[in-house]
Amino acid sequence: MAIIASNFKTNHTRKSTASFINNVNDYLNSSAIKSEVYVFPSSTSFDSFNTVSNLTLGAQNAYATAKGSFTGEIGTEQLDEFAIKTILIGHSERRHVLGESQEETAKKFTFYSELGYKIIYCIGEPLEVKQQGIEQTLEYVYEQFVGIDTNYENLILAYEPVWAIGTGVTASNTDITSIHSVIKSKISKPLLYGGSVKVANVAEICALDGVDGALIGTASWKVEDFKQIIENTKDL
Ligand code: PGA
Repeated sequence: MAIIASNFKTNHTRKSTASFINNVNDYLNSSAIKSEVYVFPSSTSFDSFNTVSNLTLGAQNAYATAKGSFTGEIGTEQLDEFAIKTILIGHSERRHVLGESQEETAKKFTFYSELGYKIIYCIGEPLEVKQQGIEQTLEYVYEQFVGIDTNYENLILAYEPVWAIGTGVTASNTDITSIHSVIKSKISKPLLYGGSVKVANVAEICALDGVDGALIGTASWKVEDFKQIIENTKDL
């Protein structure tokens, strides 16, 4: 059973998010598709959507707090309002664009795991590390597990090489399987691949050994494409 997740990033409005979610929900409701589907909209588009059990809304980010004085952030008090119990942690844009350190990332992980949230935890190396070879790449990825309880029961991992995110350059099947097999041998959790997954390659990628699904940005933002992605992976 594939796990398929859409990360909206800084895209869609309240109106277009609602239309997207209702459309995907109708599609899942009228099909026998059992895939686990996640949508991570912008926090301004959270709402109390009535969805089928295999469609879950999550937060792209939140601070490690219930409430308080953290300008620009949200905490669990805001997530609770919409019964959101799923969160992305460690996304490369949080790490590399917004400058979140491993220490902050781990703190967030501990906070949300103690509350029982489903966590999609992202790891992945930048291009200059990939170019140094597999040993350095794995070393870099291991560092992203420092402070993270990899036995946490509600954990899904996502391997997303930074050089493949939003670039149109998907990692090769060999790149994906070699990293996935090592991570899988150490941590027995579902492991998604992310980084320029497209309608045309999602089935092939999700069928690879050690790949349990996909975390998709760009190619998931048009609802017809996202439904096609779900359709293409429904039998895996
Ligand atoms: P992309 O983003 O599909 O646009 O490469 C993936 C992600 O950031 O999760």
